[in-house]
Amino acid sequence: MSLISLFINAGLSVGGAVICYRLILDYIPIFIARKMYGNDQCKVSNAPVPEPMGVICAAVYLIVMFIFIPIPFLEWIGNETETFPYAKLLAILSGLISISTAILLGFADDMLDLRWRHKLLFPTLSSLPLLMVYYVSGNSTTVIVPTIVRHLFQPIVLLPVTINISFIYYIFMGMVIVFCTNAINILAGVNGLESGQSLVISASVSLFNVVQLIRLDSENTTGFWHHSISLYFLLPFTACTAVLFFFNKYPSRVFVGDTFCYWSGMTLAVVSILGHFSKTLMLFFIPQTINFLYSIPQLFHFIPCPRHRLPKYDPKTDTVSMSKAEFKKSELKTLGKLFMTACRTIGMLHVEEFEKDGELYYCINNLTIINLVLKFGGPMHESTLNSVLMAIQVSGTVIAFFIRFYLASLFYDV
Ligand code: UD1
Ligand code: MG
Repeated sequence: MSLISLFINAGLSVGGAVICYRLILDYIPIFIARKMYGNDQCKVSNAPVPEPMGVICAAVYLIVMFIFIPIPFLEWIGNETETFPYAKLLAILSGLISISTAILLGFADDMLDLRWRHKLLFPTLSSLPLLMVYYVSGNSTTVIVPTIVRHLFQPIVLLPVTINISFIYYIFMGMVIVFCTNAINILAGVNGLESGQSLVISASVSLFNVVQLIRLDSENTTGFWHHSISLYFLLPFTACTAVLFFFNKYPSRVFVGDTFCYWSGMTLAVVSILGHFSKTLMLFFIPQTINFLYSIPQLFHFIPCPRHRLPKYDPKTDTVSMSKAEFKKSELKTLGKLFMTACRTIGMLHVEEFEKDGELYYCINNLTIINLVLKFGGPMHESTLNSVLMAIQVSGTVIAFFIRFYLASLFYDV
């Protein structure tokens, strides 16, 4: 039945993609008429681009998911002899609650430009339905102790093969949700980047699920369910995102908006929790993790952060280069100074020093991996920049598969 459900899900996803395509074309003029647009900051025309078009795809996605809900349970409908698998239905519903709230948060951010504390608090709260269902369904909170750690500790204490880390596991899953919801939105500002990175990650995670399904023992029905439910959420998402990418790639005819970024991050977090591979998911987010770590000084204001950190456009050469943040040396906090010295020493920061009105100023590149690529690669065309960033994302996938299927077997008895 699971396989048939997967095929029906794939069929619905294709239908969803076709509807997305039609609706985006229909809604482009409506968005412009309603003044729902952003200005493309890396174009001569600074033309208005409909935004947030992600809300259209998210609506289609939800409709596809709602239509799909009964499909995996058809064999139990009208069958009174077998107990209905309520836990499985709850898992789907709780995933949809978290995804719907992320879409709402994103749309609110697009309309109101929310503060950072709301962007962190809201996803934390919207993870609760999912984590609650995870808890009542008696799902595992055990982690495998790496073989090397067991060997190291053997002379002192005999460590077990697995340890139940209980509520720490829930904190970790909550953090995965908050991280994923924001990670895509802070690696943004280049045509096709938000939708492109999401497409690469969702296709990669789908492939990971398929590989796991093929490798599974035929008796492992739980494992089969975990990877199937993950695909039920992922296939329609991948299909709708592919269409959005088609419109969002250089030169963007639509902007995806925060609605898309939060929807995308939450969907990927949800599939990893329902599929029981939240640690593996982090491997597919390697570029986003590096971008987040590099961004910390600006996100937490150790170093001043401008409203936009997207690259700077040069109309003469039609290229983009590093965007920079300028601030007085006296404004710099201790942690900011430490970060600047460390990054400067290893060549990961572009720093200019100059004097204005008798005060010493610093001018540094904004702290994103987009600007790092431009620091090392020099000014380039916007579409080339996006291709380089997509290549980095795909390399991340290759590394993720290598770590998960090769290195993991060296460290764990898997
Ligand atoms: C996040 C980033 C910000 C980046 C912005 C770009 C952080 C903390 N915030 O802010 O640095 O500048 O995303 O999306 O890292 N735009 C383009 N070209 C594109 C995509 C977007 O010019 O390809 C511009 C448009 O003016 C668009 C605007 O960015 O209207 C959208 O910005 P918004 O999503 O509101 O920014 P944030 O998510 O707050
Ligand atoms: Mg945004």
